[in-house]
Amino acid sequence: MRQLNVTIKLAWILAALFMMPQAAAAATAGPVEIVCIQCHAKLPGKYGEPVKLWQGSIHAENGIACNSCHGGDPKDAANAMSPARGFLGVPKEGAIPAFCGRCHVGVLKDYLTSLHGKALGRGGPTCVTCHGNHNVVKASLDLINEKSCSRCHSFKQAEKIKAAMHETEKMILTIETRTAGFKQQGIDTDRLEKGLFAVRNSFHSLFHTVDTVKVGAESARIQAELKKLENTLNGIDEQLRKRKLIGAGAVAAALLAALLFYLLRKTFERTEP
Ligand code: HEC
Ligand code: HEC
Ligand code: HEC
Ligand code: HEC
Ligand code: HEC
Repeated sequence: MRQLNVTIKLAWILAALFMMPQAAAAATAGPVEIVCIQCHAKLPGKYGEPVKLWQGSIHAENGIACNSCHGGDPKDAANAMSPARGFLGVPKEGAIPAFCGRCHVGVLKDYLTSLHGKALGRGGPTCVTCHGNHNVVKASLDLINEKSCSRCHSFKQAEKIKAAMHETEKMILTIETRTAGFKQQGIDTDRLEKGLFAVRNSFHSLFHTVDTVKVGAESARIQAELKKLENTLNGIDEQLRKRKLIGAGAVAAALLAALLFYLLRKTFERTEP
């Protein structure tokens, strides 16, 4: 009887373990369940295409779905695209920066005061000119390339901006790797990470000013901040090295003490009658 009970309990535990990953999968599958995707995935041409493009995007990865951008009701198929449920439709070219900028507030500000923002509607690029609309991926300096930028003007100024930013990007990556290494060793890296986060944020929105002078000056300021973080990292390295030396010293001293003790005992044993 007792054994049967144990067997039943074991079976329950096994069943629960088996169900766990499935429950987790159901929880993360959320956005796929919305009516926008259910219906649009079946539509042909330009009405179905956004679903496929969106699926591999950084927005899909972060739970930003159709209704996050276009509004509407993602749970009610009959009224999904009703303006009364907040449906915004498709933004016209001039409205795209504000449309994306609802969430990317800092970038929008830098963009609007830039030569690009000032040329909006008169040949200037919008957010989707550079990032795409549904297939937005993680941003990087690779977006600054001759093919994309020389659609409208020469690549010369762009190249200068890219070079200045590339240097800073390299420093950020090195510091990130070193910080992660210390974290793995159980060292408290909270303050370093916070510092890095702040620097990284102001760095990545900097591009949108497309102002060569400003990018130069800001890059210098950001690099000075990064140097400070680097000094902190060097300090930790130094401390670790000292601790290792002290550790090695302690081991040597213990060995020496053991040897002395052994020799003393030998001497003592010999003098025993
Ligand atoms: C039952 C099917 C169905 C559902 C549900 C649905 N759509 Fe649509 N959607 C359509 C069809 C069909 C069109 C094209 C014809 C039209 O504009 O009505 C369309 C067009 C659109 C357009 C382009 C409009 C334009 O002016 O060109 C957008 C944007 C859009 N849908 C977003 C959404 C969003 C966001 C949701 C969920 C909140 C959603 N749709 C839910 C069928 C659907
Ligand atoms: C990050 C914001 C964003 C998300 C998420 C998003 N869209 Fe869009 N969508 C846009 C923008 C911006 C445009 C206008 C693009 C342009 O003018 O290049 C657009 C245009 C469209 C159009 C009109 C296409 C055309 O050629 O006329 C449809 C249809 C559409 N979206 C459907 C969807 C559906 C369905 C989803 C979910 C799978 C979705 N969108 C998710 C931003 C978004
Ligand atoms: C409803 C809020 C929302 C809207 C509207 C929105 N985004 Fe995003 N976007 C996010 C979130 C959340 C992320 C992921 C977190 C992050 O990296 O900031 C993201 C990430 C991004 C990234 C990658 C950032 C990185 O770290 O490299 C880019 C580029 C981007 N969005 C561009 C756009 C563009 C272009 C539009 C308009 C077509 C847009 N977004 C509209 C919320 C939004
Ligand atoms: C859709 C057209 C378009 C695209 C694409 C575009 N630009 Fe521009 N850009 C403009 C316009 C318009 C101006 C305003 C000044 C002018 O007319 O040259 C400008 C100005 C600039 C300036 C300032 C030049 C100066 O004289 O100080 C820089 C730098 C710049 N763009 C960089 C870039 C980079 C980098 C890219 C690619 C990632 C890019 N642009 C893509 C249209 C574009
Ligand atoms: C001329 C091309 C161009 C235009 C126009 C443009 N971007 Fe960007 N964007 C870039 C580049 C290049 C980067 C990468 C900069 C970097 O790696 O530091 C970037 C980076 C970003 C990031 C990541 C910033 C971060 O904190 O990591 C977001 C979000 C973003 N852009 C959103 C937008 C939005 C929203 C608009 C419109 C208001 C816009 N971009 C207009 C080229 C552009």
